[in-house]
Amino acid sequence: METSPLAKRLTGRFVAGETLDEELAVCRQLANENILSTLDHLGENVTSLEEAAASRDAYLEALERIHAAGLPCTVSIKLTQFGLDLSEQACLENVRRLADKARATGNRVEVDMESSAYTDRTLSVATRVAEECGCIRTVIQAYLYRSAADIGHLNERRIPVRLCKGAYDEPSSVAFANSTDVRTNYRKLMKVLLDRGTYPAIATHDELLLMEALDYARTRGLGPDQLEFQMLYGINRELQKRIVGLGYRLRLYVPYGTAWYPYFMRRLGERPANVLFVLRNLFR
Ligand code: FDA
Repeated sequence: METSPLAKRLTGRFVAGETLDEELAVCRQLANENILSTLDHLGENVTSLEEAAASRDAYLEALERIHAAGLPCTVSIKLTQFGLDLSEQACLENVRRLADKARATGNRVEVDMESSAYTDRTLSVATRVAEECGCIRTVIQAYLYRSAADIGHLNERRIPVRLCKGAYDEPSSVAFANSTDVRTNYRKLMKVLLDRGTYPAIATHDELLLMEALDYARTRGLGPDQLEFQMLYGINRELQKRIVGLGYRLRLYVPYGTAWYPYFMRRLGERPANVLFVLRNLFR
């Protein structure tokens, strides 16, 4: 599917394009609309250390180009793309190289969170590099039971967190299955981050939670420069505009590249109506 000529038509709503040039053009366009971005070079679960090194190099080039273009754009990585399945040490070194470059260019690396099989190792690598370079943001998923404890540790170390609901199919032994429970936990964790976190990122398209976050931030006297909202490229433009219109920082997660299949399938899974949207495009 990834090499099909239909790919662009299928994925265009959620993916900026196949090349770095196409990605940066989208980030430039967003910057013109006063929207920050985070670049995701699609790919996960690489099967050799050479592939992991190639992913790291693609990100090093991206950081270079972001810096040269002066774009307000961080980078988001998945550790299985940096070799976590093959060697934790090699993965750590790859992340260090990228973090060094980010620090040198005044940027930040955001470490996405994958399935619960990787949570411990991801937090371990992210925390180590964050303590060395101070330019890492890590992700916490509200559907995991363990997340309150993880946020506590990250807050103590002053490591910035992106809070999302969680996108993987997890067993009920580790995660809330019911969407109301996930929302309740999200609300609780969001307040902890707004109270004691370091420059938290509230990543959701859930309007109710977003409005509650805005209210809570105001009640706590947090200014618009003390937190940011994050959303995915291609989802709910109206809500995006409202957040920016209110004077808050909004960062969009903008993926590019050819390895779009798993990312795309997670987006379809989140909203069954997207399948109809895709089918309509296919028939057109
Ligand atoms: P919810 O799924 O309840 O959606 C609320 C509303 O948003 C829906 O009613 C719909 O209107 C709209 N919406 C949501 N998803 C949509 C979709 N795919 N298509 C169309 N409309 C949609 N997850 C993870 O496990 N690890 C990670 O590192 C990240 N990183 C990340 C970064 C950023 C910036 C965001 C916004 C999200 C993530 N996620 C993630 C994904 C996250 O865990 C979650 O799966 C999605 O954000 C969907 O959950 P919502 O909070 O939007 O709520």
